[in-house]
Order: sequence, then structure tokens, then C-alpha cells
Amino acid sequence: MLRLDKVSAYYGRIQALREVSLEVRDGEVVTIIGANGAGKTTLLNTISGVLRAREGRMAFDGKDIVGQSPKNIVGMGIVQVPEGRQVFPTMTVKENLEMGAYSRRNKASKKELLAECEWIFGLFPVLPQRLSQKAGSLSGGEQQMLAIGRALLAKPRLLLLDEPSMGLAPKVIEAIFAVLGDLNRAGLTILLVEQNASVALSVAHRGYVLSNGRIILEDACDNLIKNEEVRRIYFGKHTRERRGIVPSPSPLPEN
Ligand SMILES: Nc1ncnc2c1ncn2[C@@H]1O[C@H](COP(=O)(O)OP(=O)(O)O)[C@@H](O)[C@H]1O
Ligand SMILES: [Mg+2]
Repeated sequence: MLRLDKVSAYYGRIQALREVSLEVRDGEVVTIIGANGAGKTTLLNTISGVLRAREGRMAFDGKDIVGQSPKNIVGMGIVQVPEGRQVFPTMTVKENLEMGAYSRRNKASKKELLAECEWIFGLFPVLPQRLSQKAGSLSGGEQQMLAIGRALLAKPRLLLLDEPSMGLAPKVIEAIFAVLGDLNRAGLTILLVEQNASVALSVAHRGYVLSNGRIILEDACDNLIKNEEVRRIYFGKHTRERRGIVPSPSPLPEN
């Protein structure tokens, strides 16, 4: 579905991605784990067209997407849930959801959008209870649910998630990742970047480890969890002290 071939990206003269090659297949949950500053957000912004890849190739369904505008990329079905949720704080929950459907305003019927809202409310039952509340007054977990709901209304075929667990309590993380598992089983392909390796590796099928803008490891998550280097970097005593690391929830059943 998505293929990157030796993609490099820069901020001015500073190189932030170094020849990143990766693949996301139809129906997969793929995770990119990496420490703070590894280049995870840069990678997602490069895929979604917010940042331009200076070198390398990116293809979605075999179509070259390098240099496409973010708007066109959303139109093709790649939708990003940004780091830190980025809900519109002074707008209501309902208005935030409407913004999600903005790119489809001339294409989707009202009936179609209402049915999708009902489906999203089924996934996140807290949202319909908060429709007229300002998004900025929601809890972090509720904002993350809203950000995901908003992205779903853009009708993604590939959902890009930037650290959805960040700053959330373990129980809330578990609830959100359970929904991500459900969405994947319903057919949605997901590319998830996370600093929280234990949670990401427990939900994804395959994973890549990003370090200093470079992919240093790639494997099935079952193998990455057992990998000596991953264990040392992400599950060692050093990382346990870092914020946001939680015990793994039980792994999701196989597809
Ligand atoms: N707008 C920017 N201008 C310059 N450097 C940036 C910018 N955004 C990120 N960087 C740098 O690029 C590197 C990767 O950052 P980022 O992709 O945000 O990492 P991560 O999401 O993995 O924490 C870091 O060294 C960061 O300082
Ligand atoms: Mg980031």
C-alpha cells in the first residue's frame, strides 16, 4: 500500500531522515518505535506531504506521492492524527468532527456522514456526550479520541498516528489501543509511531526501529519484543524510569 525507498528529509541543512525505506501492506498495523528526537514526527510529516522529501521515493498504491500537497494526500486516503492531538480547542467537539469531514464536503452525502458519526460514537461513546463542549476542555484521553474520530471522518485507507499514548494514563492508553485494534480488524491499515515501545509492539504486526533518522532494525513485533537490542534500549531500567512507559496490555488476537 505504502512504500518508501531511501527517503531523506532535511530542516534547512540539518538532515532529519536518512535513507528511510519501509513498507506498509494492506491490512497491517506497522509501528515505528524510536526515542524522542529520532525523527518519528518528521517521517509522518514527510509521508503526509507537510514536509517535502528531498531524496528518495514514496509511493501509495504504486502512485508517486513525493511533492504532492497535504490536501491531495488526504484525498488519496492517507490521514494523519498529529502529535499532541491538535484538536481545535475553542471549537466544540461537534465542530472538530465536522472539520474532519471538510475534505469530503462536496463528495459525501449528509446521510453517509451521519452514519459514519454513529459508527465513531460507537467506538468512542464519550464523544456524543460531549458534542457541544469545547474541545480544549476535554481530558487528554478524550482529546485523543476526538482527534482519531476527526481523522476517521476524512475516510482514511491508511491512518498515520503520531504517539497516541503520549501523556495518557495506562487505562486510557489501553482503551484507545483496543479501538485501534478493532479499527484494524475492520480493515483499516495503520502506521503508528510511538516512543512507548511496549504498547506499540503489543498492537502492531511488524515494526521498525528508528534511531537518529535511520531505520536500524525491522522485524515482526513478536521478534522485536524478544530482540536483545530492543530490550536493552526500550525495556531496560533506563527506559522504565522514563515517562509514558507502561506494562503491556494483553496482546490482541490474531487477525
Ligand atoms: N521544525 C524543525 N526545525 C529544525 N529541526 C527540527 C524541526 N522539527 C524537528 N527537528 C529536529 O529533527 C529531529 C527529529 O525530530 P522529530 O521528528 O520531531 O522526532 P520525534 O518525533 O521522533 O521525537 C530532531 O533532532 C529535531 O530536533
Ligand atoms: Mg514526535
